Amino acid sequence: TVDQKVKALLKQMTLEEKIGQLNQYTSNDAATGPITINNNKQNEIKKGLIGSMLNVMGTKRTRQYQELAMQSRLKIPLLFGLDVIHGYKTTFPIPLAEAASWDLTTIELAARVAATEAAASGIHWTFAPMVDISRDPRWGRVMEGAGEDTYLGSKIAYARVKGFQGNLGDVNSVMACVKHFAAYGAAVGGRDYNSVDMSNRMLWETYLPPFKAALDAGAATFMNSFNDLNGIPASANNYLLRDILKGKWNFQGFVVSDWGSIGEMVNHGYVKDNKEAALASITAGSDMDMESNAYRYNLEQLVKENKVPVALIDDAVKRILRKKFELGLFDDPYKFCNTEREQKEMNNPEHTKAAREMAAKSIVLLKNERDVLPLSKGLKTIAFIGPMVKPKRDNHGFWAVDVKEIDSTYIVSQWEGLENKVGKRTKILYAKGCGVESNSKEGFADALNVASQAEVIILSIGENFNKSGEAKSKSNLHLPGVQEDLIKELQKTGKPIVILINAGRPLVIDWIADNMPTIVYTWWLGSEAGNAIADVLFGDYNPSGKLPMSFPRIEGQIPIYYNHFNTGRPSVNEDKIYKSAYIDLPTTPKFPFGYGLSYTTFEYSDLKLSQKTIKNNESITVSVNIKNTGSVKGEEVVQLYLRDKVGSVVRPIIELKDFQKITLNKGETKTIQFTIDNQKLSFYNNALEFGSEPGDFDLMIGSSSADIRLRDSFELVK
Ligand code: IFM
Repeated sequence: TVDQKVKALLKQMTLEEKIGQLNQYTSNDAATGPITINNNKQNEIKKGLIGSMLNVMGTKRTRQYQELAMQSRLKIPLLFGLDVIHGYKTTFPIPLAEAASWDLTTIELAARVAATEAAASGIHWTFAPMVDISRDPRWGRVMEGAGEDTYLGSKIAYARVKGFQGNLGDVNSVMACVKHFAAYGAAVGGRDYNSVDMSNRMLWETYLPPFKAALDAGAATFMNSFNDLNGIPASANNYLLRDILKGKWNFQGFVVSDWGSIGEMVNHGYVKDNKEAALASITAGSDMDMESNAYRYNLEQLVKENKVPVALIDDAVKRILRKKFELGLFDDPYKFCNTEREQKEMNNPEHTKAAREMAAKSIVLLKNERDVLPLSKGLKTIAFIGPMVKPKRDNHGFWAVDVKEIDSTYIVSQWEGLENKVGKRTKILYAKGCGVESNSKEGFADALNVASQAEVIILSIGENFNKSGEAKSKSNLHLPGVQEDLIKELQKTGKPIVILINAGRPLVIDWIADNMPTIVYTWWLGSEAGNAIADVLFGDYNPSGKLPMSFPRIEGQIPIYYNHFNTGRPSVNEDKIYKSAYIDLPTTPKFPFGYGLSYTTFEYSDLKLSQKTIKNNESITVSVNIKNTGSVKGEEVVQLYLRDKVGSVVRPIIELKDFQKITLNKGETKTIQFTIDNQKLSFYNNALEFGSEPGDFDLMIGSSSADIRLRDSFELVK
C-alpha cells in the first residue's frame, strides 16, 4: 500500500532529507531556455533538500528540474505547484464571475479544463480553489473567490475541487489546494493581509463551511492564510490546523504555508526570528514552508535541541510523500512531462468551447429597461466605444499565470468578438473615448463623432485587470478616470447605449445604475471574453448570471451582505429615527445578492410544502412551479431562503439554503422540488454545537435575495 511504501522510504531518509521535503522554492524561469535558479539551489535539489517547486511551467522545464531531483540519493521526485486559478493556457472567467453563473456543472468543467492543460504542462498541483468568503469588495481578492455566501461558496468549492482533481493520479488531474485557511476574506477594512478578529461561532458558521466542503470533495492539500486570526497567525494556528483541520476533520493531506507566511510571523510580532517561526509552524501543523526558508535552516537544530520531536517532522514528510506516491511520481517522475500531450492539450478546441460557455454564463444583466438588448442582427451601424474595447490582456483577469507575452496568448478581445458576431452585415465604428485611469477628455470628441453615426452605442468601461487581485485592496470603488463623464457625454446623443462594465469586484456604479437603462456586468471573462459578450449582446446566449456579492451604493456601506441580523432596531422601520440605519442613504445595496436579469421573464407559482410541521429526523419536500412567461428560452436560478424566527443565538433575516438552475423554453413550466432537512435548519450555537432548535421558520422562494416571489412557513417540533 501507499502507506507501507511511505514508511519504507521514510526509514531510509536522513533528517536533512526529511526536512528537505518540507521545503518549497520558487523559480521565475521562462518556460524554455536554461534554468535560471542559482547553482546553490540546483545543488540543493540534487541533494534532495527541496520537496517542491512553484512557478515552474512547461514539460521541458519541469523535466529539467525533475532530472536534478533524480540525481539525489533517494530520487524523491519534486512536486510542481502553480496558481492555476482561472484556467491555464485557455483562460476562464475570474472565479467571482464564474460564481455568478451558479452553474456547478460548468464551473466543475472549467476547473477540469484548467487541470487538463496544467497537468499536460508538467504541473502537479494548483493553489486553488480559493474559498474565502468575503463581504468586503474593497478586498482585491474577492475576484478569486465565490463571493459572500457560505452556501453558494461551499457548493462551488466542492465543484472546483472535483474539477481540478478528477481521478487524482490520472495524467490530466492536479491536486487542489484549498485556501486560505482561514478567514482571510474578513481582513479588517478590506485591507489585504490585515488582521481578522471574529467569534469562533462566526468562523464556524460563515467562514469554515466552504473549506469543509472542499475537504469532503477530497481536496489533497490546504494553504495557510497570511492573516492572524484572533491574535494568532494562521501559519502557526493550532486551533485551525491541529484542532480543526487535522483533528476534528481528520484531514490526511498536507498543509503548505502561504508565500513567506511562516517568516512573516516575525512582523506579526508573534515570534522573534525565523527559528521561532519554524518551531511555531511545525508544531501547529504547517507541513510545507513556501519561500520562508524557516524549516530548511532551523528544523534540524530545533530537533537537536529537543524542541521539535522527529515524529512531528515524520508526520509532515509522510503527508507529502503520500501525495507524491498517489500522483504516481515514484513510478514515473516524468509522468506529466509529455511534450506531445502538452501540444495537443494546449490546442484543444473543446477547451475553447468550455471557456466560451463559462464566460457567457458568468455575465450578469443588471438593467435592460427599454429592451435595448438583445441587439437586432439587422443593425447597420454600431459604435463600439471605450477603453476596454480593444485591450487583450485585461480580459484574461488577474491570475492568468501563463499569460506572459500578450500577443501570443489566445484571447478574443471584445472588438474581435463583435466582429466575429456581425461579420460584414454591420459596420462597427470604434473610438477609445478615454483611458481607463486617465483624466484626459481629449478622446470625447472622437467618441461623440462615432456615436453620432451609429444606431446603437456599446460602451465598454471598467477597471484594469490588475486592480483586483492580491494586494489590490481599494478604498475607492468608483469607476476610475473620466469614464463616467464619457457616459454623460454620450447620453446627450439620445442614442441607445449599452454599458459593459469590466471589473474584478463589485464597483460602486450608483450613478450609472440610476441613469442608464442598459447595463451588463462582464467582470473579466478570459480567453473567450469577446465571443461570449457578443453572444449575450445579440441574444445567442440569454444571460442567466446572478450576483454572488451585494453591490454597495457607496463605499461607506461596506461591509454589506444580504444575510445580516435584524438587530433590535431594524432599518426597515421607516417611521423610526433611532434605528440601525444611515441617515444619508438606505441600508440596502444597489444590486442585491442573487440578482440578475434575463431576456425572458419567469413566473413563480404553486408553492407547496409536503408538511407544515416536522421533527428533526424528518424532511419537507418543497415544490414550486416556474413558468417562462417571456418570448425566448432562458435559464433561471430559483433560490430557496429560510429564516429561523427565534434562536438561542440570533439568526439572519434571510439565508440561502438551496438553489436550482433550470432551463425553460418559451411558455414552458417546470415543477421543481427542494428538500429541507435538519442540516438546513441547523446552525452553531454559542457552545459551537451544530444543530437545529424547535420553532417557526419562514420559507422564501425567489429570483434574488431581494425578490422573493413566494412565501410560506413551517414549524420544527421536538
Ligand atoms: O497561491 C498564492 C497565494 O494565494 C498568495 N500568495 C502567493 C501564493 C503562491 O503564488
